[in-house]
Amino acid sequence: HRRWPGLIEAYRDRLPIGSDWEPVTLYEGGTPLIHATHLSAVTGCEVYLKVEGLNPTGSFKDRGMTMAVTDAKARGQKAVLCASTGNTSASAAAYATRAGMGCAVLIPQGKIAAGKLAQAVMHGATIIQVDGNFDDCLELARKTTATYAEIGLVNSVNPVRIEGQKTAAFEIVDVLGRAPDLHFLPVGNAGNITAYWKGYTEYHADGVLSSRPRMMGVQAAGAAPLVDGAPVKDPETIATAIRIGAPASWDGAVAARDESGGTFRKRTDEQILEAYRTVAGKDGVYVEPASAASVAGLLDAHANGELQAGQTIVCTVTGNGLKDPDTALLGVPEVEPVPVDPSAVAGALGLQ
Ligand code: F0G
Repeated sequence: HRRWPGLIEAYRDRLPIGSDWEPVTLYEGGTPLIHATHLSAVTGCEVYLKVEGLNPTGSFKDRGMTMAVTDAKARGQKAVLCASTGNTSASAAAYATRAGMGCAVLIPQGKIAAGKLAQAVMHGATIIQVDGNFDDCLELARKTTATYAEIGLVNSVNPVRIEGQKTAAFEIVDVLGRAPDLHFLPVGNAGNITAYWKGYTEYHADGVLSSRPRMMGVQAAGAAPLVDGAPVKDPETIATAIRIGAPASWDGAVAARDESGGTFRKRTDEQILEAYRTVAGKDGVYVEPASAASVAGLLDAHANGELQAGQTIVCTVTGNGLKDPDTALLGVPEVEPVPVDPSAVAGALGLQ
């Protein structure tokens, strides 16, 4: 039983990697595709979760980052820069450390989950809080790296990020032996939906697949530019990872939807939080709020009668719930400790 070699080694022949390049890797990818018993029972479909929170830094960003940092290093760049709602910065910080490179991250002030900030701190990134939102941060990152060529831009506007992230589609097909009928995923800056569609399309073109899934993008209601058809100036949502008003990969997302016969939809924060609690509480998979948008989209499609019984469906859950404990504990009351006494435990359990 060979150890998983990381996604660059696993899919090297499908990635733009020089034959003499040494991958910068934390053995990302190879994440589980978990059958969701509860969601399958509710929808009458075969629902699987692609659990991207089990990547080394706890999100799918590691797929793009192994490529982006390997590429930056091979080009002789000394440092990387990104804008981020949190996960990209955590990933960039880890992979830059691995490569012996510098890392700076531009984050929207006060709007990233605690665990993500902690990761960037622990990996030694230079953290620059910006008095603006993600879209402002990304513009700043683009302008800065355009002026200083020695700094690599590792946001998904860098095409090698998309190349790395497309491998998640390969993995799903390699496990299922086919493409799902529908694929739901959260959409923020829209790099990931673009990447999955590229992966499915490459396998299809090479004859690995006879059909491709319909791509079902889900945004937060307060940050739904693709659904509304226009950029959102002041995006707002509790799902801070997807609090984005002007997605950089707009065209890629629209192409994925249109070429696949898919849809975009938006869900309110309440609907996203309900899905967040369902997937943790009923299927045993703890994801971060933004990740639950895919599940909220699935439940909406079911409620609207858009699903057919027996369909194979994948929901990508993009990030680990541990990144954002504050949202999990919202409204959870503090409980009085019991004495060190079995009868007190029995009492608390209502056994007496
Ligand atoms: N889910 C999570 C957990 C994310 O962190 C992101 C994006 C998305 C979904 C949306 O993916 O942008 O490719 O459409 N996070 C970026 C970041 C913006 O900075 O970490 P997308």
